Amino acid sequence: MPIKSIVENQHKKAEFFIGRDVELSFCSNACLLKMLDERARVVRTGQSDATALTVIVNQDHLLVPLAGAKRSEVHVLGAQSCHSTARENWEKLVGHNHSALMPVYRVCNCMAEIQIVDGEAFEDAATTPAWKKVRSIAVKSESSHLKSKVVAFDQWREWMRGLACGLNELEKMGLAHGDPYPFNAICTDSCATWVDFGHLSDDPAQRFKDAWAFVLFTVLHTHRLSATYSPALLKNLASALSEAEQPGRFEKIRLVFAEPYQDVLIASDVRVPCLIFAESLVEHSKKIFGSSDLSKLLFKSTVQYFSDFLHHVQRGNNYSTAFNFELQRHHFMEQEMLRLMVPKAEHFGMLSDMNRVVSDRDAEILSLSQRVMECEGKIGGLSQLITNRDGRIESLTQQ
Ligand SMILES: Nc1ncnc2c1ncn2[C@@H]1O[C@H](COP(=O)(O)OP(=O)(O)OP(=O)(O)O)[C@@H](O)[C@H]1O
Ligand SMILES: [Mg+2]
Ligand SMILES: [Zn+2]
Repeated sequence: MPIKSIVENQHKKAEFFIGRDVELSFCSNACLLKMLDERARVVRTGQSDATALTVIVNQDHLLVPLAGAKRSEVHVLGAQSCHSTARENWEKLVGHNHSALMPVYRVCNCMAEIQIVDGEAFEDAATTPAWKKVRSIAVKSESSHLKSKVVAFDQWREWMRGLACGLNELEKMGLAHGDPYPFNAICTDSCATWVDFGHLSDDPAQRFKDAWAFVLFTVLHTHRLSATYSPALLKNLASALSEAEQPGRFEKIRLVFAEPYQDVLIASDVRVPCLIFAESLVEHSKKIFGSSDLSKLLFKSTVQYFSDFLHHVQRGNNYSTAFNFELQRHHFMEQEMLRLMVPKAEHFGMLSDMNRVVSDRDAEILSLSQRVMECEGKIGGLSQLITNRDGRIESLTQQ
């Protein structure tokens, strides 16, 4: 691994410092990592250890590892043997000028310097790194929030045309993207661009798999962004895919998205386009299902889809159990508080009763004080009389 983490839990960190948090190993004297010093901004990007750490250079370039995580046969797209030819594959892309492929500036044996493409991934799937989210908030005043808006059919068609065009460009160079999923495609209002070339391959079988993966997982999945669909487009797409084993497959797919359609309808259910596509494919079934690669891809994705689906249902159940438990806890605490507290009206009633008792007492004390004063006055008068009498008795005694 060219950039190796030496911290305990790298998931807790946003940024890493060379020497303290990560160690670099250079592939050669011309290694791109040699230009970095301890001030370099090393950040978390990929999900797997192989692609976890990248470096932001000059604000809008990234240094990324050439090779993504090694895939095994269990992956929907099968095992890949592209790691040994990674540099040669990447080199074909240095300096290209295609809007649907992220720009590549330089490569060494281990890393590539690429452009950070502005825009939003078609699907986040928790793969968009935190640094990118923070950066897009800081750089742009408003983000488009793909999920919250309905996309015009022609906008979606234009994005898919662009992405098919990017894959076609790779095919012309003898390459395949290797991971044409919606979380590896970034879109803006004007175009869509492939990123993440960690599975770039020169294996011809990968181009066939890419055609299917692109249509099944990116085209048909993102179709729900548009509330409308064209049956003719979906039928043309099925027809183009029936020839995906032949070179020129992406050009055929590109052409499907390039022409305008007059039969655009409102989708009453987001699954309708998928149904029309499936029905149309079945018409071509003899041509399509002869390939063992495709049969494996389809069966694996069906099983994985079902497992993922049940996993999400189970997670949803856990969330709702936790939510209801929390709700009950709040109700219980509320009841306890009510039980322990005196209601406001009762509290004020008690307060005014007590005030009344206090003022009655005060009045009583006042009248008693007055009586005491009267008694003291009488006692004073009597004392005076006694003093007078004592005076008279004394004068009589002296006579
Ligand atoms: N050049 C780029 N411009 C803009 N965003 C990018 C770029 N490269 C990657 N990203 C964003 O970062 C995310 C993760 O990067 P990347 O796809 O390279 O990692 P990863 O290799 O797919 O991880 P994994 O280990 O899961 O395969 C992408 O899904 C995308 O949202
Ligand atoms: Mg990716
Ligand atoms: Zn290197």
